[in-house]
Amino acid sequence: EGEPTVSITVVGASGDLAKKKIFPALFALYYEDCLPKHFTIFGYARSKMTDAELRTMVSKTLTCRIDKRENCSEKMEQFLKRCFYHSGQYESEENFADLDKKLKEHEGGRLSNRLFYLSIPPNIFIDVVKSASKSASSKNGWTRVIVEKPFGRDSESSAALTRGLKQYLDEDQIFRIDHYLGKELVENLSILRFSNLVFEPLWSRQYIRNVQLIFSEDFGTEGRGGYFDNYGIIRDIMQNHLLQILALFAMETPVSLDAEDIRNEKVKVLRSMKPLQLENVVTGQYKNHTKGGVAYPGYTDDKTVPKGSLTPTFAAAALFIDNARWDGVPFLMKAGKALESRRTEIRVQFRHVPGNLYKRSFGTDLDRATNELVIRVQPDEAIYLKINNKVPGLGMRLDRSNLNLLYSSRYSKEIPDAYERLLLDAIEGERRLFIRSDELDAAWELFTPLLKELEEKKIAPELYPHGSCGPAGAHYLAANYNVRWGDTVSDA
Ligand code: BG6
Repeated sequence: EGEPTVSITVVGASGDLAKKKIFPALFALYYEDCLPKHFTIFGYARSKMTDAELRTMVSKTLTCRIDKRENCSEKMEQFLKRCFYHSGQYESEENFADLDKKLKEHEGGRLSNRLFYLSIPPNIFIDVVKSASKSASSKNGWTRVIVEKPFGRDSESSAALTRGLKQYLDEDQIFRIDHYLGKELVENLSILRFSNLVFEPLWSRQYIRNVQLIFSEDFGTEGRGGYFDNYGIIRDIMQNHLLQILALFAMETPVSLDAEDIRNEKVKVLRSMKPLQLENVVTGQYKNHTKGGVAYPGYTDDKTVPKGSLTPTFAAAALFIDNARWDGVPFLMKAGKALESRRTEIRVQFRHVPGNLYKRSFGTDLDRATNELVIRVQPDEAIYLKINNKVPGLGMRLDRSNLNLLYSSRYSKEIPDAYERLLLDAIEGERRLFIRSDELDAAWELFTPLLKELEEKKIAPELYPHGSCGPAGAHYLAANYNVRWGDTVSDA
């Protein structure tokens, strides 16, 4: 048969990411009939496990879509039959050669495409890539490797990692994941902008006063402190997830929807920005807090965090893009763990209406009268525009209302997990949502000097109570640029 096969090897198969995200996403793709007809999935890790044991492990993580329950358990059975396990050392070319033999059996002489998902700590990325590419790459089809962050911890270590990967892979074989790019509403940003007449003409310094990118989680590190402490929130969230959203948000219209055209525009945005200055950044760290009789631990109470750690679990920053479109417009980022709520939002605050006829109705607080576009990435995906409206009746009272597109009421379909989109794209060779190495370099250039300065000067983060809205410093920072942080709660 001439139809190609795809073999997907999840390296680090017993890890958290594999269990929580990768296997469930692969199953969802299978269920949605998005995987090629001939596919095989292999888990690879050091521990000894049989195929049956892997299947049991994987089966515990699979779920059915709410709107598609029928045949689901049957589909699970069929899916699990195509999952296998191979135990091996990460640096062993021999062990990967054994994997190669097994893959060949399954491929049955067809054109074979191979995807490796590195769900492993960064210190073994190169070892695995070396042994996999030497011993288990496809001889007649493509071989692609998906890598997850951390891509180093500064410009130098990131460049070293890229050099290491490129000893064994070409750039177009490397799929660097930033899972925020796979989120439905992040992907939708370009559709919103470029396929609606009413947004793009306003998308510049002429009409936009500021842009806010907000990431907040209502839980702490919870045992992930070992990883987290070495990176901190700036590397964990800002340098990648929020900066990627910023680049997509601010880019010029790409020549086409081609991956290279889009990524070219994103790189231009990043290269038009100045590296972050310490005075434009506020850092914080959560401390323990008792609320309603429950004691919430502080960051340094986490057993996996070194005592006295100065690693920020919160940061706010003001960034600027020095180009004709965005000159002078503050892009404010805020990211934090152990805050009061979980949400990710993009907020666009528009300028005041010049000579507003209704000024009086707002008293002195003109800020309240400005339009704001909110893209709520999660949870409760929504896009809404805050407008002024007359309260119906004989008087003349204005009201702040929302033109509201709430996904759950408009679309009955469940929104796929970001990993589904990204895995599918990797299988199809669509690179639009993956990070090219020059993008990564440009992203690190913006943050590396700041990160070094924070560490060298041992800047102490401002402590904030677990479950609060974060350090007050974030408000002062925003106030320096005449910005007030928006907030879902007050939008209701
Ligand atoms: C990861 C970070 O990249 O994203 C985590 O390392 C964070 O610290 C996670 O919790 C958030 O992702 P999501 O999709 O749950 O918002």
